[in-house]
Amino acid sequence: MSGHATARPMTAHPSGPLTGTAAVPGDKSISHRALILGAMAVGETTITGLLEGQDVLDTARAMRAFGAEVTQTGPGGWSVHGVGVGGFREPADVIDCGNSGTGVRLIMGTMATTPITATFTGDASLRKRPMGRVTDPLSLFGTRAYGRQGGRLPMTVVGAANPLPVRYALPVASAQVKSAILLAGLNAPGQTVVIEREPTRDHSERMLTGFGASVHVEHTTEGHVITLTGQPELRPQSVAVPRDPSSAAFPVCAALVVPGSDIRVPGVSQNTTRNGLYLTLVEMGADIVFENPREEGGEPVADLRVRFTGTLRGVEVPPGRAPSMIDEYPILSVVAACAEGVTVMRGVRELRVKESDRIDAMAKGLRACGVRVEEDVDTLTVHGLGAGGVPGGTTCATHLDHRIAMSFLVLGMAARAPVSVDDASPIATSFPAFEPLMRGMGADLRHTGDADQQG
Ligand code: S3P
Repeated sequence: MSGHATARPMTAHPSGPLTGTAAVPGDKSISHRALILGAMAVGETTITGLLEGQDVLDTARAMRAFGAEVTQTGPGGWSVHGVGVGGFREPADVIDCGNSGTGVRLIMGTMATTPITATFTGDASLRKRPMGRVTDPLSLFGTRAYGRQGGRLPMTVVGAANPLPVRYALPVASAQVKSAILLAGLNAPGQTVVIEREPTRDHSERMLTGFGASVHVEHTTEGHVITLTGQPELRPQSVAVPRDPSSAAFPVCAALVVPGSDIRVPGVSQNTTRNGLYLTLVEMGADIVFENPREEGGEPVADLRVRFTGTLRGVEVPPGRAPSMIDEYPILSVVAACAEGVTVMRGVRELRVKESDRIDAMAKGLRACGVRVEEDVDTLTVHGLGAGGVPGGTTCATHLDHRIAMSFLVLGMAARAPVSVDDASPIATSFPAFEPLMRGMGADLRHTGDADQQG
């Protein structure tokens, strides 16, 4: 995907009630990491439940370009024959990571300590996003990077021939940056140390350990001190990818705002580095029951039962919670618009450098739908209109951002008049089955020119 796909407008009409079971796809973060670590292990890694969204497919293609054999064996089933730590070959062409910041940043880290050169690009959204946050720490290993102004793609990365181990304190709470450094540290001698003040998603640490690397995490007054011992031999694994809590957020929040809804969402991760949205929804008074807690694919999961009550209240979301719900603020702001009272989301400046400037995209779209919103560089404030109170009746711009598209479509299901998005095609990056899944539960989603299809 390089942003040349034709725009696909879509409209959500007032819907409901939503009922049934939402089987959401595999976790995007874990899917990228399973392919990348599989490519760094010697022998065959098998993966089940892989997210077959465009972002992850682009990472699979990149792993082939670096020399791994990556094949699909069935729906969600994949096999990766890896080349070993330091075994990447130089790709013959530019690596196109499409829309995926996670893909490009993790792959840059993975090749950064092997003496090969690779050029990376992506779609119009990814080409606007900052890569310096990754290439600055990678330069400490001896890696060189040449990009456009502001550290933007396209960018050529020259891997270090004699990498040095690195000690780096993250200046921003970012699992992508942390993971890029740890992956680069795999092919450096000695110990690479990353220090994070606030915990971010820990899938890399968990999976590296599963593949046989030594990763030691110490909780100190400085924060989490993560130490990786370089040059391990990674052992191939069977990886069962759990369902994605960030994708589950859309049916969960839709059920909370569409009158009469009662749905189940099985196998949602309760990993404390990912569950901030669920804590916030419970604080807002949401009726969510966490049933059958267990472990799946090395992650704590539960089955959720979610019911509409129409009695959600606005809350203050503390800044310390941002890393554990960083991708969920767009859909939370939709829930906030349908709650009574004010919701204040603080410490959210990282949203400005996601697939779009998500503070700006949500503020503009919500205002166009009749909701009062305030923003500053680091805060988003939404004045709720209560259940059934959002007027809607407009088209929102999605800026090549899957989560903005899905958020406004959920709003359209609960608003008084339909809400359209100018382009629903980016949804395929993370949740290709969003439309049939939501329709199957009772959502009235229509394409332009589909007017007679439903309703
Ligand atoms: C991700 C980390 C987060 C998140 C992204 C996935 C990952 O980005 O927004 O969707 O898989 O490591 P940052 O590291 O930029 O916060």
